[in-house]
Amino acid sequence: MPRVHRVADDTLENQLHYLPGTVSRLGGILQAFADLTVLLDLDGTVLEYRFDTPHLQNRFPDLLLNRRFQNLLSSEVALRFDRQLLQVRESGELLAFEFSLQPSEEQWFDARIGLCSDSQLVLVAREITDHKRLESKLGQQVRRLAALRSIDLAIASGLDLKLLLSILLDQVANLLHVDAGSIWLVNPETNQLAFSSGMGFNTNAVQSARLRLGEGLAGQVALERKSMIIPDLRLNIAGSAYPPHFADEQFLAYYGLPLVAKGKTLGVFEIYNRAPLRLDADWVEFLNVLSGQAAIAIDNAILFQDLQRSNVELSLAYDATIEGWARTLDLRDRGAKGHTSRVVDITTQLALSMGVEKDSLIHVRRGAILHDIGKVAIPDEILFKPGPLTDAEWQIMQQHPTLAVNLLAPISYLAPALDIPRWHHERWDGSGYPERLRGEQIPFAARLFAIADVYDALVSDRPYRKAWSQTDAIQYIESQSGKQFDPRVVVEFMKLTTSNGYAASR
Ligand code: C2E
Ligand code: SIN
Ligand code: SIN
Ligand code: FE
Repeated sequence: MPRVHRVADDTLENQLHYLPGTVSRLGGILQAFADLTVLLDLDGTVLEYRFDTPHLQNRFPDLLLNRRFQNLLSSEVALRFDRQLLQVRESGELLAFEFSLQPSEEQWFDARIGLCSDSQLVLVAREITDHKRLESKLGQQVRRLAALRSIDLAIASGLDLKLLLSILLDQVANLLHVDAGSIWLVNPETNQLAFSSGMGFNTNAVQSARLRLGEGLAGQVALERKSMIIPDLRLNIAGSAYPPHFADEQFLAYYGLPLVAKGKTLGVFEIYNRAPLRLDADWVEFLNVLSGQAAIAIDNAILFQDLQRSNVELSLAYDATIEGWARTLDLRDRGAKGHTSRVVDITTQLALSMGVEKDSLIHVRRGAILHDIGKVAIPDEILFKPGPLTDAEWQIMQQHPTLAVNLLAPISYLAPALDIPRWHHERWDGSGYPERLRGEQIPFAARLFAIADVYDALVSDRPYRKAWSQTDAIQYIESQSGKQFDPRVVVEFMKLTTSNGYAASR
């Protein structure tokens, strides 16, 4: 039977007596509905109360009697309670009120407060602790899900690995309520663990540590590929590989998880707490998901780094190959010795001074290197003919730009470099080949290159004629402004030759 505390004659049960014939029924209803019933005076002093569940009764023995109900509430909730009392007194309405009882605040109640006479109020409350707990757990789960989602997005956006891991560790601190966390990465070359990211450390004790597999806590987790929980590190510290000053951190509990992706151990995720860890199932689950995400992020970053490295290696190999081709061509055409590297230089200088973007420069360069690659298909008798070409020979010779395109088109990597091999014999006035493009129809890189090519051809010995002087060659270029060449590029070429002193010698 519930215990009833009485302080005045004007008690709850007497009150209910005023309603004839209702005592037992109303009392029964109250008992069935309420977990706590309180009779208060108008200021909130408890006149009488009754817990209707044994566990509450045991928890709050005589806690309430003769005290103001407000004193049992936190100050903020007490203020709200005062306002409610005022409103109930003024309006006579029944008002709802949610509260928990100090000091533990572990019990939550949902109450109705109403007037039951001129001088008394009644508060009827149901315990909603379970509901509250569920609500806060749901809130926590929503926050954790949101955190996982934001980490997923960060992984998908290819954020820098260090930044990503520190975001992850911050989430750990906020949502798992732990003091410190760290991530160690395995260096596959040395098979050592290096500290990568950390949060919550007061000292630099671990930052510069390197651990072999099996060494230290992280090393053991990595070697055994199993999570490790140590409730009290102080018992564990002796004889381990702890760095100096590690004890200054005053950590108590430890949780280490291996970071594994596609069967490979990539690192170790560690959590440190200065108080005991409360390991409920949700907490552990969340930690596991986070470490899974960390492993994915690390795996992605490694893939990306490898890809970048092999791209760089591939492109170096490609460039070595095309330079090899060009050198072979120059060797075959003995008169063209050094021609390729000179035209590449002049073209690059023109491109720079005419504001060609850095990113396109590499394509201009490759195009210049490969400009006459089509000549590999021109027979020796034509290429090395010591005199003028016949019409038929000239037809064949004029195919060398198109031959270059046929040769290089299958190499997608060279696609942006094809303008020069293809269009370097077009002329500004539309009289060139292979397509008789005119003016700005001719790609800019080819307009730059054409000047470099003709200048260098003229100052070199050819099977069909001797080298011209630089002065004559420069004069020829100038004379062809607006005919063979783009006038703007000619102006730039003239500046360049003046500053380089090409015109000086004869
Ligand atoms: P290349 O010898 O490398 O010459 C490239 C370009 O420089 C020529 O393109 C032309 O625009 C200019 N050029 C070279 N030499 C002279 C020259 O003596 N006078 C003038 N005004 N311009 C010159 P083009 O004319 O389309 O010729 C393309 C390629 O055809 C030349 O490359 C060369 O390999 C070959 N070729 C041209 N003319 C003859 C020739 O009379 N005999 C032989 N055997 N080959 C020739
Ligand atoms: C660690 O695993 O976090 C470093 C401490 C140690 O060396 O054991
Ligand atoms: C090649 O594939 O050898 C040519 C590569 C290049 O020019 O860039
Ligand atoms: Fe050519």
